[in-house]
Amino acid sequence: SAAEKGGYDYFMLKEIAEQPKAVADTLLGRIDASGSLRLDELRISAAELREVDKIVVVACGTAFHAGMIAKYAIEHWTRIPCEVELASEFRYRDPILDPRTLVIAISQSGETMDTLMALRHAREQGSKVLAICNTNGSTIPRESDAVLYTHAGPEVAVASTKAFLTQLVACYLVALYLGQVRGTKWGDEIHVVIRDLSQISRAVERVLETMEPVRKLARSLADKNTVLFLGRHVGYPVALEGALKLKELAYMHAEGFAAGELKHGPIALIEEDLPVVVVAPSPRARSVLHDKIVSNIQEIRARGARTIVIAEEGDETVAPYADHLIRIPATPTLLQPLVATVPLQVFACELATARGNEVDQPRNLAKSVTVE
Ligand code: AGP
Repeated sequence: SAAEKGGYDYFMLKEIAEQPKAVADTLLGRIDASGSLRLDELRISAAELREVDKIVVVACGTAFHAGMIAKYAIEHWTRIPCEVELASEFRYRDPILDPRTLVIAISQSGETMDTLMALRHAREQGSKVLAICNTNGSTIPRESDAVLYTHAGPEVAVASTKAFLTQLVACYLVALYLGQVRGTKWGDEIHVVIRDLSQISRAVERVLETMEPVRKLARSLADKNTVLFLGRHVGYPVALEGALKLKELAYMHAEGFAAGELKHGPIALIEEDLPVVVVAPSPRARSVLHDKIVSNIQEIRARGARTIVIAEEGDETVAPYADHLIRIPATPTLLQPLVATVPLQVFACELATARGNEVDQPRNLAKSVTVE
């Protein structure tokens, strides 16, 4: 009913709007007065966490994209090697697992069969499994050794939005906590990152306040057949997530690429007026990365692409090559997905509406996939 949707036309719109709160709620009670992390709820002891020598993230769909981003944060902050694998592929390739492997299973519903089978396989090999889950008491956390709940609240729309942002927050918390427990060299940085994380909810709110041009752009593209998405570093999984949202909701051919792969094939797809969304990394953090994305944007634009660039406020170098510029607040590189994903959700939702599609219940899809 309209009341359940809080006055919005669709649950998806309501859930997109709830993201600042979902992010803040997922941090709530997990940071103590001194700015350190308190994750006592994890039933894996600090001693056990110090023994971990490999992390494997398993998940599906949007949760898998959260896992891809987690890998960047985990390896950077903990120096523990981290792999990310589609849950549906995991157990069939005889993965190397032992009691020092920490498996992180990410799932909004906690009922995804592929993810459940992956975690069962991991536990059979003696690995510890930590679930990151949004649904209290669901099967995946019940069968795991430990759980860190995301506090997104119930997500009804089939297309995942607020759960994704909170999965990212939970992954950052786990990575930071591992760093804290193991005393990695960026020990002093942890307070800085936690402070930045605490400000992210406000940044997401600001993104949401500036989405009208994105909706207008989406409507203008309603008759297109294909949209490509490009990103580098953590912008790459964001590009994949933007493409997945568009497939699910707008039923359009959408593909995400690592921008560096363009010249290895996908650039052949570029033709006159093809919309290409590019997620530009922060120009401050890693300037090499930023320079490279600028040349990628130039390359595709020279071949006729219609460039839609998501860039930080104040990033002027991309402006001359952007046919459409979508601004997001400045954040540290690793945290950028929390703001960069939001315009892509709005974009896909608006395109679905413009194409007359059912936003909350896309064809052929179920909210949680309980078969393998
Ligand atoms: C996201 O928009 C999708 N509907 C889908 O990819 C989903 O993220 C995936 O099925 C995993 O679900 P889970 O998080 O409940 O395990």
